[in-house]
Amino acid sequence: MEGDISSLPTKRVAVVTGGNKGIGLEVCRQLAADGITVVLTARDETRGVEAAEKLRGMGLSCVIFHHLEVTDSSSVSRLADFLTTRFGKLEILVNNAAVSGMEHAQRVDTNEEQFVGMDKQQRLEWLNKQGRETYDAAKNGVQTNYYGTKLVIQTLLPLLLQSSGEGRIVNVSSDAGLLRWLVNNEDLRKELDDVDNLTEERLDEVLDSFLKDFEAGALEAHGWPTAPFVAYKMAKVAMNAYTRILARRHPELRVNCVHPGYVKTDLTINSGFLTPEEGGRNVVTVALLPDGGPTGAYFDEGREASFLE
Ligand SMILES: NC(=O)c1ccc[n+]([C@@H]2O[C@H](COP(=O)([O-])OP(=O)(O)OC[C@H]3O[C@@H](n4cnc5c(N)ncnc54)[C@H](OP(=O)(O)O)[C@@H]3O)[C@@H](O)[C@H]2O)c1
Repeated sequence: MEGDISSLPTKRVAVVTGGNKGIGLEVCRQLAADGITVVLTARDETRGVEAAEKLRGMGLSCVIFHHLEVTDSSSVSRLADFLTTRFGKLEILVNNAAVSGMEHAQRVDTNEEQFVGMDKQQRLEWLNKQGRETYDAAKNGVQTNYYGTKLVIQTLLPLLLQSSGEGRIVNVSSDAGLLRWLVNNEDLRKELDDVDNLTEERLDEVLDSFLKDFEAGALEAHGWPTAPFVAYKMAKVAMNAYTRILARRHPELRVNCVHPGYVKTDLTINSGFLTPEEGGRNVVTVALLPDGGPTGAYFDEGREASFLE
C-alpha cells in the first residue's frame, strides 16, 4: 500500500494526543463533527476508552481510541503501527498533551464565583500558589511537553507525508512560550528567533542548560524566564522554535502552533476565561486551514500572531 495514494481511505484521519479531557477532548469532538476520523489517544486506557465512548454516544461514530504515552517510544511506535495498518496515512496531528511542570500536592476544588472580578494576572498568581516549582516536576514538564511532542512528531512524520493533501501538524502551545519571556537573555532570545540558523541540537543544549541551572538555583542569574511556570515556559518556547524548524524542513506540510486562550481545564484548575469548547475551537480552526495556508506560524486564539510578544 505504501506510496499508493489511490488505495488509501478517502476520509481524513486525525490523531489527538491527550484527548481524554480538557481542550484535547473538545478538539476530538469538533474534528469528528467535521466528518474526520479521529484517533483519540490517552495515556490512561480507562479514561481514554470512556472519552471515546462519550463522543460515540453523541453520534460521532468515527472516533477510535488508541493508547499513547507521549514520553514512551514503544507506546508511540505502537500507535504508528496501528495507523499504518489501519489507514496507511495521517492528515492531521494535534499535539495537545502536556503537563504544568509544577508539583501539585493535592486536588483543589474551585467554583466560578471565586474568580469573578479577577484579571488574568491575578488568576495566574492564584494558580501559581496552588503548586511548587520543583526540579523533578520541571524535568517532567520538559520531557513531556517538548521531548514527548517531538517524539510523536518524528514517529508519525512518515504517515503525515502520505497524507491526501498537505499533512498538518498543530502543536498546542501557549502564550507562555513567547520569546518575550527571555527578556533577561537578549542573545538567546535572538538566537531562538533566528530560524534560518537554529538547529534541534542547539535546542537540546538550551534545555539542558536550563535544567542544570534550575537544579543549581541559578535561573535568575542566567536570565531564564522568571516564575511562575518556568519549565512550562521553556518547554513551550522550545516547541515553538521546533515548529518553525520543522516547517522550513517540510514545506509540503503545514506545521503551526496555537495558543488556545486561557481555558477552564484541570491544567488551570478551572481558573481560565474560556470554555474547553472555545479553546478547542481555536485549535481546530488552525487544524482545518486550507491547503496552501500559513506554515511555521503562531496563532493566538485563532489569529496569526508574533512569536515574540
Ligand atoms: N488550559 C489553558 O488555559 C491552556 C493555555 C495555554 C495552552 N494550553 C495547552 O493546551 C493543551 C491542553 O491543555 P488542557 O488545559 O486541556 O490540560 P488538561 O485538561 O490537563 O489535559 C492535558 C492532557 O494531556 C494528557 N497528558 C499529560 N501528560 C501526558 C503524557 N505523558 N502522555 C500522554 N498524555 C498526556 C493528560 O492526560 P491525563 O488525563 O492522563 O493526565 C490530558 O489528557 C496543553 O498543551 C496546554 O499546554 C492550555
